[in-house]
Amino acid sequence: LIVKITISEASKHVGKEVTIGAWLVNKRSSGKIAFLQLRDGSGFIQGVVVKAEVGEDIFKKAKALTQESSLYVTGTVQEDERSPFGYELTVTDVEVIHEAVDYPITPKEHGTEFLMDNRHLWLRSKRQHAVMKVRNEIIRATYEFFNHNGFTKVDPPILTGSAPEGTTELFHTKYFDEDAFLSQSGQLYMEAAAMALGKVFSFGPTFRAEKSKTRRHLIEFWMIEPEMAFYQFEDSLKVQEEYVSYVVQSVLENCKLELNVLGRDTSKLEQIKAPFPRITYDDALKFLHEKGFDDIQWGDDFGSPHETAIAESYDKPVFITHYPTSLKPFYMQPDPTNADVVLCADLIAPEGYGEIIGGSERIHDQELLAQRVAEHELDTETYKWYLELRKYGSVPHSGFGLGLERTVAWISGVEHVRETIPFPRLLNRLYP
Ligand code: 4AD
Ligand code: MG
Repeated sequence: LIVKITISEASKHVGKEVTIGAWLVNKRSSGKIAFLQLRDGSGFIQGVVVKAEVGEDIFKKAKALTQESSLYVTGTVQEDERSPFGYELTVTDVEVIHEAVDYPITPKEHGTEFLMDNRHLWLRSKRQHAVMKVRNEIIRATYEFFNHNGFTKVDPPILTGSAPEGTTELFHTKYFDEDAFLSQSGQLYMEAAAMALGKVFSFGPTFRAEKSKTRRHLIEFWMIEPEMAFYQFEDSLKVQEEYVSYVVQSVLENCKLELNVLGRDTSKLEQIKAPFPRITYDDALKFLHEKGFDDIQWGDDFGSPHETAIAESYDKPVFITHYPTSLKPFYMQPDPTNADVVLCADLIAPEGYGEIIGGSERIHDQELLAQRVAEHELDTETYKWYLELRKYGSVPHSGFGLGLERTVAWISGVEHVRETIPFPRLLNRLYP
């Protein structure tokens, strides 16, 4: 009896005859031998078909195989040092499940728009496979980190009436007779959850109708949002640097092959260990002025060229702290020593990947929060429940949001976030 295995299980079957279900990535052949590059999602392996051993019929069939045809390939597993995956299959039989005709993504180079139009197929490529594996490892390590550290996963709603990050970038929808938005952040709900469960985290999709067409912006992206009762600003920074270090080290440990496929310089990632450097907004501004960025004044937000210039001074992610109050959302706790700035931090990734985390201590004083809600002209009925969190046993608390796709881009060394999510929603792209 021949066992059916996945390519990733090859190491357990050396010297045995097995069958794998696979797709043909590519092939090379001569009159006597054919090399089949095979993939099955779990990995990649080369099948070697020797005419003298399989006979005329099977060899002919193997030579005629087309790219992306689905197959059952039977053969004997061999160890092979030359293969990046370590194993090879000496083929004894090939059965075609479905013949693919004219697969559009050939081994030659294609333009980005063409690849994006064919995203449903492009996902099969070795590079996209590697990126999805890194993404999966970041998600796995995230759950592991927060579960090990006493956090409870809580799922905030996607359909909401509130807008934590400002009202300009909302996706509107009808909620029967009411108006609703797609969530731009689960934070406010996570604050309620923290008052019930102490340390909580969410992981879910968020939506921003941002008219930004940059390599860092998606319309739909996934965010990890921890929220911690009794944690002050500094306590939260500690969690952030430990979490990010944990994720990077997990990817280094568990995605060696993928990082290799992506050509990632792993020496840069090896240095990513807590603690991370910190710089205040004021000092960052001074630094930028010294660097010749004359256009920027106190009270202006940093753009990506500014962030990149600041990040270039460090080989780890850097926290920019204490931004002007006017730049940040209504819920941030003012610095007790200077009410013009808030107890917040953005974490900027190295190598030009930009802001991967935004976070802060939250206002826990009911009166001050009510005042901020009014100043920001937010509807007090909509935020009534949020204000009530400060009415019954209010405590200092802090939290943050990490953007998954920017983190995947940085760790994978992928230039644009469009490659870091299976089906990116971008300005002007809803297909496929
Ligand atoms: O800085 P942001 O807007 O913070 C919040 O939403 C807070 N409520 C989070 C919290 O404290 N719970 O977004 C957090 C992160 C950013 O640092 C960035 O990594 C990512 O989300 N992000 C985006 N990623 C891709 N495309 C976009 N359009 C993004 N906008 C934000
Ligand atoms: Mg931000």
